[in-house]
Amino acid sequence: MAQNALDAAGERRPLLTVSHLSATYHTEDETIPAVRDVSLELYEGEVLALVGESAAGKSSVAHAVLGLLPSTATVEGGDVQFRGRSLQALSTDELRAVRGAEIAMIFQDALAALTPTLRVGEQLAELFRAHRNMSEREANAEAMRVLGTLFPDPDRIFDSFPFQLSGGMAQRVMVALATALEPLIVIADEPTANLDPGVRMEMLQRLEAMRDELGVSILLITHDFGVVARLADRVSVMYAGEIVETADVRRIFRTPKHPYTFGLLQSLPTLESTERLTMMPGNPPDLGSLPPECPFLPRCRKATTQCRTDPAPRLVPVEGSAEGHLVACYNPMAVSLRD
Ligand SMILES: Nc1ncnc2c1ncn2[C@@H]1O[C@H](COP(=O)(O)OP(=O)(O)OP(=O)(O)O)[C@@H](O)[C@H]1O
Ligand SMILES: [Mg+2]
Repeated sequence: MAQNALDAAGERRPLLTVSHLSATYHTEDETIPAVRDVSLELYEGEVLALVGESAAGKSSVAHAVLGLLPSTATVEGGDVQFRGRSLQALSTDELRAVRGAEIAMIFQDALAALTPTLRVGEQLAELFRAHRNMSEREANAEAMRVLGTLFPDPDRIFDSFPFQLSGGMAQRVMVALATALEPLIVIADEPTANLDPGVRMEMLQRLEAMRDELGVSILLITHDFGVVARLADRVSVMYAGEIVETADVRRIFRTPKHPYTFGLLQSLPTLESTERLTMMPGNPPDLGSLPPECPFLPRCRKATTQCRTDPAPRLVPVEGSAEGHLVACYNPMAVSLRD
């Protein structure tokens, strides 16, 4: 962690603070509250992993933070503070300037996120022209230099259209676009999904280098607990649009408190056996018709009467655990998962 990540009182300072953020998609026949009262903090120079099953709302959180939700979505409340400024209070132009230059995003679907009609080099050069005031010549040269750090044949990539790239190449181009302007924060949405092992490892090393050499803070959205174990400092677990547990990575792996986190980790393959140990039964709830009580109740083995009668539990500090360990559960796990 960089020294300037501490304030005068020696406290760690969050770079990004998301407070009580909620967002809903409106389709013709459904209302989908994909982000429900989400709060999180991203500290300087750390990697915070956001994990959870498909459709938990992970990408929606990222898009809501950056003002990138589609027009069919509404943001109901909450605040996103970045370096003392509310992102929601910024004009479209101001937000666009923050996005890219200060907070960059590696999108889950890299190919779809690239502009299909622009050559890769032009997309990269455009960033330098728009944010760094470079001439076309300077911007092209800088784009070529950046591509040269990622590809053995930067000339060819420069002249390629996105549809001419493989999935792994498109991911690398996304990394180039996301890091070109040396942002303070990178939001990486499933950066290793669908990559073969060699490219996956390279992606992990790049993310690690961003944090360790450039001091970038990373919000890392992933299904992959191998990636979490390698990169994350802290972890937030999402279920049905909410964060149900947050802790540092060691506590998440050793003493998960939410039965959902416990179940996710228990279902991971181990080194000794590639079989999944115990599959978590059931499926996530339909976000369109959520019950008032805990949304994990139908899948929970630890449910008590309170879980069936009271409104869904709120995220609160875990008794007897370290500061920063939060869980939304009336009957948290008492046993350790690993020693
Ligand atoms: N544009 C959209 N319009 C309507 N509903 C949407 C839209 N985007 C996402 N959703 C819904 O919001 C919920 C959360 O989706 P989101 O993409 O945030 O999940 P996720 O956790 O990122 O999942 P995955 O791991 O599969 O990427 C899902 O029920 C999804 O169907
Ligand atoms: Mg997603």
